[in-house]
Amino acid sequence: MRSTFTAHRRTSTTTTRTTGWVVMLALAALALGACGPAGSSPAGEVTPADWRTRLPSDWPFDIDAAPVAAENGMVVSTDAYASAVGADVLRDGGNAVDAAVATSLALAVVNPEAGNIGGGGFMVVRLADGRTAALDYRERAPAAAHRDMYLDENGELSDGLFLGHRASGVPGSVAGLWTAHQEHGSLPWASLVQPAIDLAEGFEIRERQAHSFSHSIDGLRAFEATAATFLPGGSPPELGSQFSQPDLAATLTRIRDEGRDGFYRGRTAALIVAEMERGGGIITDEDLAGYDAAWRDPVVFSYRGHTVISMAPTSSGGATLAAMAKILEGYDLSSLEWHGTEHTHLLAEAWKRAYADRNAYLADPDFVEMPLDRMISAEYGTERRASIEMARATPSSAIGPGLGRPERETETTHLSVIDADGNAVAVTTTINSFYGSKVTVRDAGFLLNNEMDDFAAQPGKPNQFGLVQGENNAIEAGKRMLSAMTPTIVVRPSGELFFVVGSPGGATIITNVFQNISNVVDFEMTVVEAVNAPRLHHQHLPDRIQYEPGALTEETMAALRAMGHTVDERFSPDSAYPYIGDAQAIMVAGDRRMLGWSDPRRGGAAVGY
Ligand code: GLY
Repeated sequence: MRSTFTAHRRTSTTTTRTTGWVVMLALAALALGACGPAGSSPAGEVTPADWRTRLPSDWPFDIDAAPVAAENGMVVSTDAYASAVGADVLRDGGNAVDAAVATSLALAVVNPEAGNIGGGGFMVVRLADGRTAALDYRERAPAAAHRDMYLDENGELSDGLFLGHRASGVPGSVAGLWTAHQEHGSLPWASLVQPAIDLAEGFEIRERQAHSFSHSIDGLRAFEATAATFLPGGSPPELGSQFSQPDLAATLTRIRDEGRDGFYRGRTAALIVAEMERGGGIITDEDLAGYDAAWRDPVVFSYRGHTVISMAPTSSGGATLAAMAKILEGYDLSSLEWHGTEHTHLLAEAWKRAYADRNAYLADPDFVEMPLDRMISAEYGTERRASIEMARATPSSAIGPGLGRPERETETTHLSVIDADGNAVAVTTTINSFYGSKVTVRDAGFLLNNEMDDFAAQPGKPNQFGLVQGENNAIEAGKRMLSAMTPTIVVRPSGELFFVVGSPGGATIITNVFQNISNVVDFEMTVVEAVNAPRLHHQHLPDRIQYEPGALTEETMAALRAMGHTVDERFSPDSAYPYIGDAQAIMVAGDRRMLGWSDPRRGGAAVGY
């Protein structure tokens, strides 16, 4: 059934903000080694606003920057071109789902390391009338996949899990965007695909793209069609040059004209299968034709009176977010020194417990029974909280899943949209690693994902994000691999839309989204402060608190270590960049203005009108 979405055309002004990755890296370099507080609050006199005193004096991300403000509609994504496409759709009378579809497709062109048509994702929707929906278009294991397919004769994991044709699940993105549009779209499908085609025919390379290509040269050389597409003439496209992707433009044209069949059947499907045959991959015509997106009930929970709407399994995001919120609701975080010893300790202890349950229980709901309702309940949060000691870290080895044995033993990108009527959409989508499997489908111009690594290819052993997952998430034909993507919408206690947020970052996505929510709810931060503030992470295993440079003072780290915590600076598996994630957020202010902010850690844009 189509929704009763309506969309309005209003007089418009557009505001954009983008921060080049190159600029941010220069600032980040200044911050390396720069830890230490500007001051601290005396015990007993802490107010939420005191968090500012914990920032190192040379923290590179400006917490006092002005957010992008708009009255009629807003799109925030990891790329300025893509956000502008979405904002134009809103200005032309499209609703938030229309804008999310067009922005997603534009990201597949201008953000090819993560935006995609060869991967999958999740969409969380909250309509202005309060109805909610969650769409699962995660990749699925091909029919020929099986549990031990990545193990060699010695039982060791093979390289094929990360790189090359066998690393890919059956892509879900086009089916997902098509399904979302069928259900909720208001503008013609073709008009939402066309801007991506225009970009594929040529756009000017900006800092973000130049940086991304030049830092991935080795990976982009791994396969001929990938090198031909992204390293024209053997080198990355230069800053300011025109970059065109004619094969991708032709694929998008088929998607424009034939809808989902333009991808899953006909020429595009034939090109994918030919690519599989060339490289020893296992995705077939039948896998492609049989792919469907699935509507799920979103995970909905309360956090200090706010209603949080997030993604259900096959994402672990919403359930793990809820589990950590329910543990932490038992403490008045706002009365603690932000990123002080107690605050960091409690975050780490809650996150460990929530990830232990995530890793054991959560998986594709079409394949596995999960104790989902119990895992996100307030009662279970209270039980889990009871084992937290204030003076001592509980080793992860002593924290198992809390609900009994299961029955059976990045790169990613995010966009947030609000339209003129107050409909909100959060989309997180991925091909897993930077540039996915590194395989470009020859003559079709798009990269395939390497999402099979999000399964527990060897249950009990870490994947590329260090996540140690269990049997529930083992590989099975047709199954979707568990994800950490956490597209999330928060509603005020009054029932009014408050915050739309999400981020890339593999296993760190859930703690990143939690910190954004806690920052605005517990610490009353503005949208800029919440996104730009330093981040922490713990995921049960490896048993360590990870911090962005400057996020913890030397004194706090010493105190945490004395309690038994291991505390390490963040090191991303994809690069030496020590910052966590790339949040894209919109806050609706009390006066109903939309305040958007794109994380300067990588440099996207908020565009409103
Ligand atoms: N590929 C990262 C995730 O889905 O969690």
